[in-house]
Amino acid sequence: MSRILFIFYGFLAILCLCALVRARVDFTNIKCEAVDPTYNSIRYCYIRAVNRTYKYLSAANHFLSKEPKNNISVGVATLKRANGYKPFLYNVTVDGCKFLRTGGNTLLRFLHGLFHKYSNVNHTCPYTHDIEVNMLPISHIDNLMTNVLPFPRGDYQLVTSWYTYNALRAVVRVFVTLS
Ligand SMILES: *[C@@H]1O[C@H](CO)[C@@H](O)[C@H](O)[C@H]1NC(C)=O
Ligand SMILES: *[C@@H]1O[C@H](CO)[C@@H](O)[C@H](O)[C@H]1NC(C)=O
Ligand SMILES: *[C@@H]1O[C@H](CO)[C@@H](O)[C@H](O)[C@H]1NC(C)=O
Ligand SMILES: *[C@@H]1O[C@H](CO)[C@@H](O)[C@H](O)[C@H]1NC(C)=O
Repeated sequence: MSRILFIFYGFLAILCLCALVRARVDFTNIKCEAVDPTYNSIRYCYIRAVNRTYKYLSAANHFLSKEPKNNISVGVATLKRANGYKPFLYNVTVDGCKFLRTGGNTLLRFLHGLFHKYSNVNHTCPYTHDIEVNMLPISHIDNLMTNVLPFPRGDYQLVTSWYTYNALRAVVRVFVTLS
């Protein structure tokens, strides 16, 4: 009897814990901006809700020149909304070519894992082709993010800044709500 009660309370405790920890991730908006139209342009950048459970994100950057890019870095910063968006937790710049060549720390691998299956950012430098993320489902992000990152509920902006040879080329802002 006591054993059954123990299991029952254990189960209850797990349920409560999940209810506390489990947050839903939703993408509310995406904004992509190219800095210098003579170097690159944004071909598309949108979020589409197919139905209540299937929502995805697509974005593509076009380089005007096919010249091989051997020096790509990416800034990743998270902002949280509280009277406007304020810096929150992360703001790192990554040598993208080195990361693709040798891998990086857990955080970087996690960030790459959020999108790489749905993108053509899946080989080492140089890059000559356009950079695309296609039909990245929110459910994929939701699965990876909830219970992993210790983010409180709220509205966030994930700002990624893309550089070649240290020149800023594009800024992609993804607006995320954790509820
Ligand atoms: C949502 O759309 C996807 C893709 O068309 C489909 O596979 C899925 O069954 C739909 N879900 C619901 C609840 O309608
Ligand atoms: C990240 O930090 C850099 C250097 O301090 C700063 O210039 C940049 O604005 C920050 N990024 C964001 C999105 O706040
Ligand atoms: C990289 O992604 C592209 C586009 O999805 C795909 O065609 C290609 O096979 C992938 N390459 C590797 C090495 O996974
Ligand atoms: C990338 O290019 C910038 C500007 O030319 C240079 O300062 C930097 O050292 C390069 N990075 C690597 C890893 O080669």
